[in-house]
Amino acid sequence: MCGIVGCILKNREVAPVLVEATGKLEYRGYDSVGIATVDNEGIHIKKDAGKIKEVDKKLNVSNLPGNTGIGHVRWATHGVPNQVNAHPHNDCDNNIAIVHNGIIENYGDIKISLEKEGHTFKSDTDTEVIAHLLEKFMGKGKNLEEAMKETLKIIEGSYAIAAICKSNPHQIVATRKESPLIVGVEGDESYIASDIPAILKYTKNIIYIDDYELVVLDKEGVAIKDLKGNIIEKKIDVIDWTEDMAEKEGYDFFTIKEINEEPTTAKNTLKEKTEVEKVVSSIGDIDRICFVACGTSYHASLVGKYLIEGLIGIHTDVLLASEFKHSVKTLTKNTLCIFISQSGETADTIKALKLANEFSKTLSIVNVLGSTIARESDHTIYTLAGPEIGVAATKSYISQLISIYLFAAYLAKDKDGFSGFNRIMDSLESLPDFIEEILSKEDQIIEIAKKYKDVFNFVFIGRGLSFPTAMEGSLKLKEISYIHSEGYAAGELKHGPLALIEDGIPVVVVIPEDEDHGKSLNNLKEVKSRGADIIAIVSRRDTVVQSESDETICLNEKIDPIISPLTYIVPLQLLAYHISLARGLDPDKPKNLAKCVTVE
Ligand code: F6R
Repeated sequence: MCGIVGCILKNREVAPVLVEATGKLEYRGYDSVGIATVDNEGIHIKKDAGKIKEVDKKLNVSNLPGNTGIGHVRWATHGVPNQVNAHPHNDCDNNIAIVHNGIIENYGDIKISLEKEGHTFKSDTDTEVIAHLLEKFMGKGKNLEEAMKETLKIIEGSYAIAAICKSNPHQIVATRKESPLIVGVEGDESYIASDIPAILKYTKNIIYIDDYELVVLDKEGVAIKDLKGNIIEKKIDVIDWTEDMAEKEGYDFFTIKEINEEPTTAKNTLKEKTEVEKVVSSIGDIDRICFVACGTSYHASLVGKYLIEGLIGIHTDVLLASEFKHSVKTLTKNTLCIFISQSGETADTIKALKLANEFSKTLSIVNVLGSTIARESDHTIYTLAGPEIGVAATKSYISQLISIYLFAAYLAKDKDGFSGFNRIMDSLESLPDFIEEILSKEDQIIEIAKKYKDVFNFVFIGRGLSFPTAMEGSLKLKEISYIHSEGYAAGELKHGPLALIEDGIPVVVVIPEDEDHGKSLNNLKEVKSRGADIIAIVSRRDTVVQSESDETICLNEKIDPIISPLTYIVPLQLLAYHISLARGLDPDKPKNLAKCVTVE
């Protein structure tokens, strides 16, 4: 949902660095891009609709002069993606340039009153009011930092903002509320960004900025202040992500690179065992668990419900973060709300977490270190998947699931002894090898993708632990291939969706050898007899299902069904990826979507 970046460099031009950094932020938005630099001549801006490579080629953005600058990638909320609406935005006289991630909710009223005062607006965006407010306050003799403080008293909504001005060409002023912002420091050079991958090439020394903190970058370095002007001493975290982790490393797309990283990711997440055990033992009494998340993280949460209710019998709910507020009255101090999020910056999830903090215990399971969700919850488990750049969550889903399994296992050990604990731990040990084996089936999956690339509808079904897998397989497909698809609990088909089944419609049946196998087989036959093409994700020794199916992707029979969500999803990720490629699409950057959804 938009990304911002900025830097002040010593004795070198910033534009090439900002071009590279905005490219790294494209997973946050890619409908338009722009860069502004400042030198003694004034502000220079180049921006347009499109991705940075195209826009740089067209406008030679890399050629902008100056050692200080800011950049932006846009995911449109107010105003269509075009040159005028692209950031950076400026004031009437081009003395100020700003970039913004978030939404200014009261921009309409502010715009009307600024227009009455004589300001002329160029764009349809909510953001432009910030540039004109800064202009107004600087016109009254305030410097950029003071003008920003005045502006913050007026604007409502969410924001990470960075601003530069002609009167002080060696300064960037930035701030945030409910949108992410980090600072990077490397010797005499300093950076701000929405996220670490943007500046990973230049520094690993990161400071996480909190809401209502003001960051001033200048030749002296970085100062972080509260809104009264007091200096805040912040810790510098040295992060251990390498630059390679945010590169494609020979793969055509991040999505396939990240799917191939799943065995390694699994090993890394499993190393967090001891941390998870500590978290479980520090939580205290709980009588209810409530998972809260969006999208793929919501599907991981559904697996959590099956596991925890099945193994331990603690009542567990799964709520969509955007709907959470309607359930707040049911929370008590013995409810544990678990927030699942790859980015740790999803606006819906942050809002829900803030509410839950008032009434219950909170735990977050998060990938991005130091992110808002991680910092604002009582307890945090990191999934350690490394940076995920492809918009569709793949390896992060596996790592979220592993963290949830570890959590459930230690909770089971605490409450009910060792049988559930040992079963999960033993199965997780062999997981990396099982995933490796599934990845070797890619060629077969490519052929299935070619066969079904032109259909209009897909259906995914599964029961029990395979129901979330069906939902997630369906989400992956619709998200990166734009084919309409639905994921259903197999038992629900007869209550309506069966009407959709017709000749040739592909139905993906997720059917491990678990307690629901017999009933799932019945459902498979029901859709088959109505003309569906069956694609079964099935155990290698399950010859019955194989003989009923048009296509089969066979998984190792030694996979304990309890970890089927961690394995049966992998072929579905590959299927979605290869259908996307076969349709000539860019799986890394699906249209209308962004990796980190920082608006509600
Ligand atoms: C789908 C996908 C999204 C995210 C959702 C939540 O592939 O990536 O559905 O899962 O936007 O994001 P996080 O996990 O960052 O809170």
